[in-house]
Amino acid sequence: MNNILFVRFFKIVVFFMALTGVAQMPIFKRYYISDLPGLGWLADFYLTNKIHYALAAVLIFLVMYLATEYILTKRNSMKLSRCGVVRASLFALIIFTGVFRVIKNLPYVTMDPFTVMMIDWTHLVFAMLLGIVALMAFIRGKSSYFEESRNLIR
Ligand code: HEM
Repeated sequence: MNNILFVRFFKIVVFFMALTGVAQMPIFKRYYISDLPGLGWLADFYLTNKIHYALAAVLIFLVMYLATEYILTKRNSMKLSRCGVVRASLFALIIFTGVFRVIKNLPYVTMDPFTVMMIDWTHLVFAMLLGIVALMAFIRGKSSYFEESRNLIR
């Protein structure tokens, strides 16, 4: 897969992660968004939950691939920008807290209410922060993850 296709695929995966994540809250039915033609599936909690899980596996694969490629071949020639470091860290934190959400959802795992609340809230807060930081980077024209112009992800 070439870089442009990879980047597009990555963005599509993140978009649907955010969409299906918000559907878990679940707010699309409440605000009649799922009444719009073609968006009825957003009100199906079990479906959006399954899509979120499936895409989480894809996202983890993509992030691991990028991290491995960066460490093995690009670390010395391409420096992550400050905004790139922030976004990469947020991805790591979202995945970390997402894995804990998956563990928490297992039928034989019980956690105390405070831990459950912390896991839920941190996943949500990091996801929101990523959205805010990505939007700010886009508006300020600093959407590159790297300081150089030969970028993998913009
Ligand atoms: C960019 C990536 C991601 C975004 C934007 C995102 C966003 C969200 C949001 C907004 C929620 C709802 C939070 C709430 O109910 O308070 C959610 C729930 C959840 N997310 Fe993610 N998420 C992402 C990646 C992941 C990953 C990588 C995993 C797993 C490793 C994961 C696992 C979960 C689980 C298990 C839930 C709860 C589903 C349930 O209620 O059963 N997420 N996510």
